[in-house]
Formats: sequence, structure tokens, C-alpha cells
Amino acid sequence: MSADVEPTDLVNLAVRLAREAGDLVATGRRSGDLGTRTKSTATDMVTRWDSASESLIVDALRTVRPGDGIVGEEGARVLGTSGIDWYIDPIDGTTNFLYGLGDYAVSVAAADSTGPVAGAVFVPASRELFTAARGRGAFLGSTPISCSTITTLATALVATGFSYDSEYRRAQGARVGAMLPHVRDIRRLGAAAIDLCHVACGRVDAYFEEHLHSWDLAAGLLIATEAGARASDFAGGVVRPSETVVCAPGIHSALLERLQRTV
Ligand code: IPD
Ligand code: CA
Ligand code: CA
Repeated sequence: MSADVEPTDLVNLAVRLAREAGDLVATGRRSGDLGTRTKSTATDMVTRWDSASESLIVDALRTVRPGDGIVGEEGARVLGTSGIDWYIDPIDGTTNFLYGLGDYAVSVAAADSTGPVAGAVFVPASRELFTAARGRGAFLGSTPISCSTITTLATALVATGFSYDSEYRRAQGARVGAMLPHVRDIRRLGAAAIDLCHVACGRVDAYFEEHLHSWDLAAGLLIATEAGARASDFAGGVVRPSETVVCAPGIHSALLERLQRTV
């Protein structure tokens, strides 16, 4: 990270942008004018509010931190010079947003060459705000949070998610079906950033998913690991969007073993 950047300043900025964008999309949802179209597949939807949220965040970042890079789900790509890059999911959980379910969030993270340094996930429907700065812990509002202390996979509540690609889903369905008899239960909430925050505050014990993108993962990963969660790929290597496991440390090896047996 460049020497003149304070992680706290980056978190404060992430919080401001996630809140402003969250308020914008919540107002947009109430208006009923969703401007919906499809993206990668017939089940992958985007609304005018995904685009409006991303524009709000990108415009603000370009004004306040013009040297930073930006990667946004709805197409924003800015090559930076400062060593800080922002990863934006303007609405994580667009399917929930579309159907009027509350589990959607705005996810904003700043990263340097070693990974996420500051992150904010704002859930407009509940007004919950999850934040973290690297090395400084994770918070729900102003309250420090920590992941669960569970040590037994058989009693773990495990969250997961599915891609929009039907071939990926076939494999993901087989994997989750094979895991189901070996855990307390499975949750599929529909928003990866919120799943990660739920690991962070112990509302679930674990989360795994394949074929995510950097904008799904960056903020929630920092929040979960700052809350004490262990993160890796399915083989125990470095966590990556294409293969993500984030869970209570006490069940990490058992969960990896189970994931490897369900390929
Ligand atoms: C999706 C959600 C979902 C996850 C998918 C993501 P989107 O993001 O996070 O829970 O299972 O992999 O693509 O499209 O709602 O931003
Ligand atoms: Ca997403
Ligand atoms: Ca999204």
C-alpha cells in the first residue's frame, strides 16, 4: 500500500459510497421502475439501479481519488497509478432485489498489491453496515464482530451460492447435495457479500462458492478474515474468486476434506 494512504480513510470513503448507493437503489426499488434486462444468461439479470449505483460510486471515486484503479461489475474499468484499486458490486443479490427480497447489498472494497485493505458492505433493507480495515478488525455498525468458534462440521450451518451458467450449476448442485448429509444444514441466501458478512458475525459457520468475481469477494473476504475466519481455495491454497472457502477456523480442514470428496 502506498505510504500516504490511511486504511481508515479508505474505509470511511467505502462506507460513504456504499450507503449513498444503497439509499439510491432502495429508493429505486420502491419506485417500481426497475429497467430490467439480461446479461450472461437468461437468469442473469441487471436493472437500471445496478448501473446507477455503479455510476454514483465511480463518479465519486474519480473525483476524490483520481489516481486509483476501479473494477466494477457493470463495466467500470479504470487503470490506476496510486497502487489502490477499488472493487465494486453495485448490487450484490440482484435476483433478490428484483423479486423484492431484502437480501441485497452494495459492496465496496479498496485493495493494494497484497489484497483488500478496506471494505464496506451495506444492506439497505436492514440498514446493516459491515466494515473492516486490514489489521484493525471487523464491525457491524460500531460493534466488533467475530466468526463462530465451532469445531464440528456435522453441526455447522454452511452457506453457498450458484453461478448463472447452467453447466456450472449442475456441478455445484452435485457438490452441495453430497455435502448436505454431513452438515447441520445449507443456506443459499443469494448475495455472496452478505454470506461472507454472515460468516464474519457467526450467523453461519461457513461459506463456499465457485466461479465468483473479484467484486463479489473483495469487501466480504476482508470483513470475514478480520473477524477471525479462515479463507482458502478448496485445496487449502490462496483464496480466489473461482474457488472460495471462508469459515470458522475450527472446521476449515474438515470442510476442505468434505469439499474434495464431493468433486
Ligand atoms: C451473485 C450473488 C449470488 C452468487 C452469485 C453472484 P449478483 O451476484 O452474489 O449469491 O451465488 O455467484 O454472481 O449477480 O447478484 O451481483
Ligand atoms: Ca455479486
Ligand atoms: Ca451485482
